[in-house]
Amino acid sequence: MTKPAPEKSALRSAQWFARRDIYGFIYRSWLKNRGIPQDQFEGRPVVGICNTYSELVPCNSHFRTIAEHVKAGVLEAGGFPLEFPVMSLGETLLRPTAMLYRNLASMDVEESIRGNPLDAVVLLVGCDKTTPSLVMGAASVDLPAIAVSGGPMLSGKYRGADIGSGTNVWSMSEDLRAGRLSLDAFHEAEACMHRSHGHCMTMGTASTMASMVEALGIGMPGNAAIPAVDARRNLLARMAGRRAVEMVGEKLTLSRVLTRKAFENAIRVNAAIGGSTNAVIHLIAIARRIGVALTLDDWDRAGRGVHTLVNLMPSGKYLMEDFYYAGGLPAVIRELGRAGKLHKDALTVNGSTLWQNCRDAPCWNRDVIHPFGSPFKENAGIAVLRGNLCPDGAIIKPSAATPELMRHRGRAVVFSDIEDLHRRIDDPKLRIDPSCVMVLRNCGPKGYPGMAEVGNMPLPPKLLKRGITDMVRISDARMSGTAYGTVVLHIAPEAAVGGALALVRDGDMIELDVQGRRLQLDVAAAELEARRKEWRPPKPALDRGYWKLYHDHVLQASEGADLDFLVGSSGAFVPRDNH
Ligand code: FES
Repeated sequence: MTKPAPEKSALRSAQWFARRDIYGFIYRSWLKNRGIPQDQFEGRPVVGICNTYSELVPCNSHFRTIAEHVKAGVLEAGGFPLEFPVMSLGETLLRPTAMLYRNLASMDVEESIRGNPLDAVVLLVGCDKTTPSLVMGAASVDLPAIAVSGGPMLSGKYRGADIGSGTNVWSMSEDLRAGRLSLDAFHEAEACMHRSHGHCMTMGTASTMASMVEALGIGMPGNAAIPAVDARRNLLARMAGRRAVEMVGEKLTLSRVLTRKAFENAIRVNAAIGGSTNAVIHLIAIARRIGVALTLDDWDRAGRGVHTLVNLMPSGKYLMEDFYYAGGLPAVIRELGRAGKLHKDALTVNGSTLWQNCRDAPCWNRDVIHPFGSPFKENAGIAVLRGNLCPDGAIIKPSAATPELMRHRGRAVVFSDIEDLHRRIDDPKLRIDPSCVMVLRNCGPKGYPGMAEVGNMPLPPKLLKRGITDMVRISDARMSGTAYGTVVLHIAPEAAVGGALALVRDGDMIELDVQGRRLQLDVAAAELEARRKEWRPPKPALDRGYWKLYHDHVLQASEGADLDFLVGSSGAFVPRDNH
């Protein structure tokens, strides 16, 4: 019981626990003080459980239970589990935007994994940014890793109808502003919309990223859609714990799973599910951590010709609960495989290929998951736009846009920042009509800071009252995955670094052509040069601490908005002992 473990071991954790010197004493003794017998960690794979439980992140509030199931699975397979907390990011409370802190949280994750005696890690992810931040951090260490999503909430129920997180917040807010809904009725929906543990249950960013986890192969089959409160979510967590132990023996590290083929599969799955535009930034950032040079053009190329099959909000009408009961993501992946839109040999964390996992997946409801031959929406992959307004790219999600507006020319109505928008959008005297193009700037990575989800600008009440429900909107911001509309996002370079978006003036004509992949400001180059000479960069909101680090080092959206010095991997090696 007190005998030190043998010196020689293939396990990384043996560098801590198998030592016969003062360091081995220290490393072992402070586990024994918790009452853990040495035979529990002697020669056993040590599996970290990276937990984003926080009372400040309501979507992850059930993660203590999930962690217990992972632990049980690790023990059942002969491993030793050690749970640890990392910075958790919630979309609902954190200001100015959780995206500002995604890279900071990823640093926490990376250093927590590397600096500790772990052989593998299970990442507990849920609310939007907790998925990319944990996967990015783990990718930079490259141990065997499995992501376990917390699962979506049950469907919202309101006055006899289903309502979805985010999507119906936006639509009910517009109804309120148009005078079609009372304030009491609006407030009543608060308790009806979110009524169980779990993350947003539309195909918003959290559901999209849970789907990306499964499509990339870094989650167990079924990870995307099992509701948070369904017992099968706990079962999946338990099986992930068992599997993490086996992966240590197989040396199944993240870089063996996160290959270019895996990312191209995920891009196609994102198109098929009508997934969030935020996946574009997150997947590029994850790929660059693991050494895959994924670009915006890869998104356009790989996603072309892929149809949206899943009829979920915000692109359609159903919710994640319906999606799970209809067959979930395996049924979608099966359709893509049968249509020749899948790298079938991509490896996944359960040791099988993506195709082996999904080739026999049933579909129980064809109104929720359409067959590829009769899709819900055709050719709806993320479109990447170029032009003098966005030489480094901008994106639009066709499945959530109005088809008639996808080719449009209109007069610019410019809002210089988010405060300017809030100040003037309700003004009845605002010179705007439905054919105008709404322009919002200084909401990008450096400008906001953190690239907030404000790109789906609210429409002017005077137009809402006329029954207008969509207009072309362009910005350097992001948009909630639950939002919809003909909304061009992620314009790069952003206005705050002198991108052409900073030079647009009221009355300029802007041309959008999604089919032609073009976004153009119809102003002569000489005039733009003259305007550039008058342009001054905005002052950063804060000039110290993490905000300064972020401002000085954040990359543009087209490069994943990571910090420049975080791109790449340092691996799992730690050079020195700690005393
Ligand atoms: Fe957490 Fe939507 S607020 S997923």
